[in-house]
Amino acid sequence: MDKRKMHGVWASRWTFILAATGSAVGLGNIWKFPYIAGENGGGAFVLIYLLCIALIGIPVMMAEVLIGRRGRMSPINAMRYVTSEAGLHGGWTAIGWMGVVAGLMIMAFYSVVAGWAVNYIFALASGEFSSAVGTVSTGYFDALLANNGKQAMWHSIFSFMTFAVVAAGVTRGLGMVARVLMPFLFVVLILLLGYGVVEGDFAAAFRFLFEFHFEKLTWNGVLVALGHAFFTLSLGMGAIMAYGAYMPDHSSIGRTIITVGLLDTVVALVAGLAIFPIVFATPGIEPGSGPGLMFVSLPVAFGSMPLGLIFGTLFFMLVTVAAWSSAVSLIEPGVAWLVETGKFNRIKATFLLAFVAWCGGLASIWNGAIFNALDFLTAQIMLPLGGLFIAVFVGWLMKRDVVAKEMDGEEHPLFEIWRFVLRYISPVLVALVMGLSLYSKLFG
Ligand code: PHE
Repeated sequence: MDKRKMHGVWASRWTFILAATGSAVGLGNIWKFPYIAGENGGGAFVLIYLLCIALIGIPVMMAEVLIGRRGRMSPINAMRYVTSEAGLHGGWTAIGWMGVVAGLMIMAFYSVVAGWAVNYIFALASGEFSSAVGTVSTGYFDALLANNGKQAMWHSIFSFMTFAVVAAGVTRGLGMVARVLMPFLFVVLILLLGYGVVEGDFAAAFRFLFEFHFEKLTWNGVLVALGHAFFTLSLGMGAIMAYGAYMPDHSSIGRTIITVGLLDTVVALVAGLAIFPIVFATPGIEPGSGPGLMFVSLPVAFGSMPLGLIFGTLFFMLVTVAAWSSAVSLIEPGVAWLVETGKFNRIKATFLLAFVAWCGGLASIWNGAIFNALDFLTAQIMLPLGGLFIAVFVGWLMKRDVVAKEMDGEEHPLFEIWRFVLRYISPVLVALVMGLSLYSKLFG
C-alpha cells in the first residue's frame, strides 16, 4: 500500500481538528446560515437545523472520517478499499465519484460568493460605506450583481488563490491556512456580536432565531435545514473523508469530530446573532433578503461604528480566509484521486479541476438560475444522498469489529449509541425528510 504514504499525514490531532474546522467553517456559517434562517422563518428552522447536526451531521461525520482513515486514500480509492475489505460490490465506489462531482459543483457557486467577499474588502477599505444606511448598502450589492465583469474578476482571483494552496499540498498548503487565521475570525465575530448588543436590536434578533413558530416552517424548509447540516459540516461529498485519510492512526475520531461539530455550530449561531440585530434595526433590510443578507446588513454596522472602516475591512478579509480554507477542501478529493492514478502530478491535477470549477463559476455569474440550481442540487440532493449512503455503509455493511477498532470503542457505551444512531436514526431521517419534501413538492 504505497499509496497510503502519497499525500502525507497531519502533524497531530490538533492539526486535523483545525484543518477540518477550516473546511467546515466557511461561507456556509457566515453567509448562508443567516440568510436561509431568515428565509425560512427563524426559530423553528434553527431548531431543526440543530437537531440535524446532532442526530445526522455529527454521527455521519464520524463515519466519513472513519472510511477515509481506514482507506488512507482519496475518497474514490478509500471507498474501493473499504468496499473490497467488506467483500462488497464495487458499485459503492460511486459515493466517491459523486463526491468529486459535487465538490466541483459547489465550488462553481462558492467561489462566486467568495469573490463578492473579496470585493467587499476593498469596498470597505475605500470608505464606500461610511455612515451608509440600508438603501445605500442594498444599492451597492445590487450594482455588484449587475456587473458580471467585476464578479468574474473577483471570482477568478479567488479561484487562483484556491488553486495555489491545493497545489502546494496537504501538509504545507492546507494545514497552514486555517491554523493561523481561524481564531481571528472568531474574535471579529464576537466583536460584531458586541456591536449588535449595544447598537442593534438584539432582543428582536434573539427572539427571531430562538422562538419557535412552527407555522412558519414548511417541508421544504426542513429539507433546507437538513441539506445545510451537510453543507456546513462539509459532509456527504468526501471532503472530510479526504481529510480523514491524513489523520494520525491513534487519535480518537469521536472526540475530534465532536469538537469540530461544536465549533462549526457556535460560529454559525454567533454569525446569526451578529447579523440579525443589524437587520432588525435597519429600515430597508428584511430577514428574508436572500443571498445578499450579510452583504447588505454588515456594511451598515461598519459604516456607523467607531473604527468601522478597519474592522469592516478586517472582517471581509477573514470571511475570505474562511471561504478559502473551505474551498481548498472542495477540490482536494478530486485532486488526490488524480494524483493516485499516477498520470498527474499535484500541480497539473489541481490546475485541471480548478479550471473546470472556474468555468462553472463563470456560468453561474452569467445566469443566476445556474447558481441556484448548483446550490439546490448539491446541498439538498447530492450531499444528503452521499451522507445517507455513508451511514448505511458504515452502519450496516462494514464489519462491526473493523468499525469498532477504528473508533477505538469496543465495549464503550458511547460507541454503541453512535452505532445505533448511525444505523437506525440518521439514514431514516434523511430518507424521510427527502421523501416528504419531494412529496410536498409534487402534491403539496
Ligand atoms: N462547509 C463549508 C461551509 O460551510 C462548505 C463546504 C461544503 C466545504 C462541502 C467542503 C465541502 O462554508
